[in-house]
Amino acid sequence: MSLILSFLQSTIGRKSLMALTGFVLVVFVMGHMLGNLQIFLGAEAINAYAYKLHNLLPASALWAVRLFLIACIAVHVWAAVTLTLDNRKARPQNYYKKRVIQATYSSRTMRMSGIILLAFIFFHIAHFTVRSVPSMKYNEPGVISKKLDASNYSIPTEVPLVKKGEAVLKNGQKIMTFNVHDMMIAGFKSKIVSLFYIFATGLLCLHLTHGVSSMFQSLGIRNSFWRIRLDRFALFYGWTVFLGFAIIPIAALAGILTADPSGGLTSHAQILKNEAIAHELYSQELTLR
Ligand code: HEM
Repeated sequence: MSLILSFLQSTIGRKSLMALTGFVLVVFVMGHMLGNLQIFLGAEAINAYAYKLHNLLPASALWAVRLFLIACIAVHVWAAVTLTLDNRKARPQNYYKKRVIQATYSSRTMRMSGIILLAFIFFHIAHFTVRSVPSMKYNEPGVISKKLDASNYSIPTEVPLVKKGEAVLKNGQKIMTFNVHDMMIAGFKSKIVSLFYIFATGLLCLHLTHGVSSMFQSLGIRNSFWRIRLDRFALFYGWTVFLGFAIIPIAALAGILTADPSGGLTSHAQILKNEAIAHELYSQELTLR
């Protein structure tokens, strides 16, 4: 046990931990980006995806996954900070100057981009996971459903933003609804928030461009043959992640993504039609009485 601990505290051990936790985060980031991009498929697609994510696993398992991710971030940051401090202690001043000239922009900005990214992650979790950023309204608007006795017909017209879901009928089945789609669009109405997301994802691109290639280095697969190929892959990965994330606030700001208060359960036209039918049936019922 103490042998494993002392390996993990050694320079090689910490570099390996950094590469492994970095790998977990790289996979998470790609999955998260692909999941988010479903917003372009419409409210129904992204809301159904968010619903599945929340209900695929029991709440305790979901929290276990979250804690694992948080632990990966914590270990990654711990390894980065302690390795940097060790390097500083060991490195003479003139050597540092030489290194700066040779280093790429992304490698020189690893610490700065890492710190800002950490702050972004805290804000982002408060914004969209804990849902507690004061200026955001997470519970609006509510479901308005009219129930007709004869057909047990419920007409959802507006689906609440995420904090309190509502059960509505869809194809005869009762389902919970959360309008994650509109929560994101509402979140990006603020220019400052959107610019912060775009800036942070730009930094993520910078961080990943260097991080992914040093991950290969630490895992021992960045030899002379693979070096250029892996560096190109890291660059491609970083830019893909940047474009994949930043396009959402950009599209929301540009008005390409617009709110859908029905949460995608039914199209607006269908809602209006349903309401008209309901109204007519209700009036008929009243006349018959
Ligand atoms: C435009 C960019 C982004 C959008 C629209 C976005 C959207 C979201 C949403 C809606 C959630 C809540 C999911 C839910 O509980 O239903 C979430 C959670 C999260 N996001 Fe993002 N995200 C973006 C960028 C990022 C980036 C760049 C990172 C990391 C570097 C990140 C890390 C996380 C983490 C760690 C969570 C918590 C996961 C959990 O609740 O289990 N996100 N994001």
